[in-house]
Amino acid sequence: MKFFLDTADITEIRQLAALGLVDGVTTNPSLIAKTGRKMSEVITEICAAVDGPVSAEVTATEHGAMLAEGRTLRKLAHNVVVKLPLTAEGLRACRDLSEEGILVNLTLCFSPAQALLAAKAGAAYVSPFVGRLDDVSHDGIGLIADILEIYDNYDFSTEVLVASVRHPMHVIQAAKLGADVATMPPSVLRALINHPLTDKGLAGFLADWAKTGQTIL
Ligand code: G3P
Repeated sequence: MKFFLDTADITEIRQLAALGLVDGVTTNPSLIAKTGRKMSEVITEICAAVDGPVSAEVTATEHGAMLAEGRTLRKLAHNVVVKLPLTAEGLRACRDLSEEGILVNLTLCFSPAQALLAAKAGAAYVSPFVGRLDDVSHDGIGLIADILEIYDNYDFSTEVLVASVRHPMHVIQAAKLGADVATMPPSVLRALINHPLTDKGLAGFLADWAKTGQTIL
């Protein structure tokens, strides 16, 4: 399973990328707005900090304008993936950009039907939003299971990128189902690392070691 960071905060991205656990980054207009910086600069910096794919989202809603914005974003760096909303115009732009060799991430996916259309439109990634479905009493992880089953039936190559991840169990449940990617806020990646028994165990080992008076080096 690939781990992407769902943030536009370059400091967080650099810190966590140094751990060697970050396979890519996803951004959206809200995350870019939070930085208070120019989108082209932020995306260029993120692309330089991370080797893997970096999703940059268009803000146009009409096919022609989506194509123009997508091509502009793609020129920012070799690892830009163009993110488009899962609308009729987005599906059409996805088909066209994909045929030009531009990787597309179709975002704001909330149903198996939309995911099926994303694969048919040639998307490299589809982003189902698990947390936002849970928020309205729907089964976010259930959607991931449905999409994986459908994609498996037809050998679609579109990768299932689990988005709107809110806590470590979303990641674990998605991994158990075999989802290709989980994109998560930095706080969730940190929460995956930490365990109180690891901290307690390490403190015990170090206390016992100190009593020996030895050093390894
Ligand atoms: O980038 C899309 C997605 O991950 C947003 O998550 O927490 O705003 O629902 P959230």
